[in-house]
Amino acid sequence: MAIIDNMVSLKHLVTMETLTNEEVLGLIKRGIAFKKNEAHFTPERQYFAANLFFESSTRTHKSFEVAERKLGLDVIEFDAKTSSVNKGETLYDTILTMSSLGIDICVIRHAKEDYYKELIGSRTIQTSIVNGGDGSGQHPSQCLLDLMTIYEEFGRFEQLKVAIVGDITHSRVAKSNMQILKRLGAELYFAGPEQWYSDEFDVYGKHVDLDEIVDEVDVMMMLRVQHERHDSDKGFSKETYHNRYGLTQERYNRLKPSAIIMHPAPVNRDVEIASQLVEAPKSRIATQMQNGVFVRMAILEAVLNGKA
Ligand code: CP
Repeated sequence: MAIIDNMVSLKHLVTMETLTNEEVLGLIKRGIAFKKNEAHFTPERQYFAANLFFESSTRTHKSFEVAERKLGLDVIEFDAKTSSVNKGETLYDTILTMSSLGIDICVIRHAKEDYYKELIGSRTIQTSIVNGGDGSGQHPSQCLLDLMTIYEEFGRFEQLKVAIVGDITHSRVAKSNMQILKRLGAELYFAGPEQWYSDEFDVYGKHVDLDEIVDEVDVMMMLRVQHERHDSDKGFSKETYHNRYGLTQERYNRLKPSAIIMHPAPVNRDVEIASQLVEAPKSRIATQMQNGVFVRMAILEAVLNGKA
């Protein structure tokens, strides 16, 4: 599909796998244009968006809400704790209800991997689904804001050395990012505990010791240790994890002058990253959160284009 002026058109956004490289770059460039106030969106009619978060969230939930309000959408409040979910309503029936009420877009975060498949496969549900994270599956809007942050910094992905470090098996962000970064031409390295790594990631990059690559990488992407998805923490103390797999001050000092550090947040300070480095000159963690609003505007606009 030809994309004119970076204007992408989507029915849903549930995984990065279905986006072409052209669509990915279109969304990134449109996000950058919104950030520079060079892009504008005027709704053709009244549009309703609902944000349904069945798992905890600060950034994704609130930045989608800011993005929706900036685009002039009507935001419908939904709190799973006070909804009919408490009476046993299934996710399918909640979304069928939203669709019947005329909600145009449902942004959903849910613990169940691939929860969206039955929703987008339904002939009755008309609402567009934007995946705000499914279990350990995918996190497309986080991936796109990460890509936007890298693209703003380097203007390309080809031949960039990107290290993805930490709790990779439980990270939906890592899975979305490794697939697309590889496809866009980046050179990927993985580091972290062996028990939080799977051989299935070998097709995207190479698993190495963090200290082997710290002096070489352009992007050091640290991941949150996802305690809530572990049976146990496999015996790591905070200090052991930080010294072995974390971004210590010593490792930070060895990074190339042009290298940047990223983290999807929330950060476990002094575990994945030494607390004083969260806002260090090479950190783009606050920029990632800021870019989340603009890339989510681009995602919502693309889904509304798909309805036109
Ligand atoms: N990065 C991210 O998804 O953060 P939240 O869980 O706060 O949305």
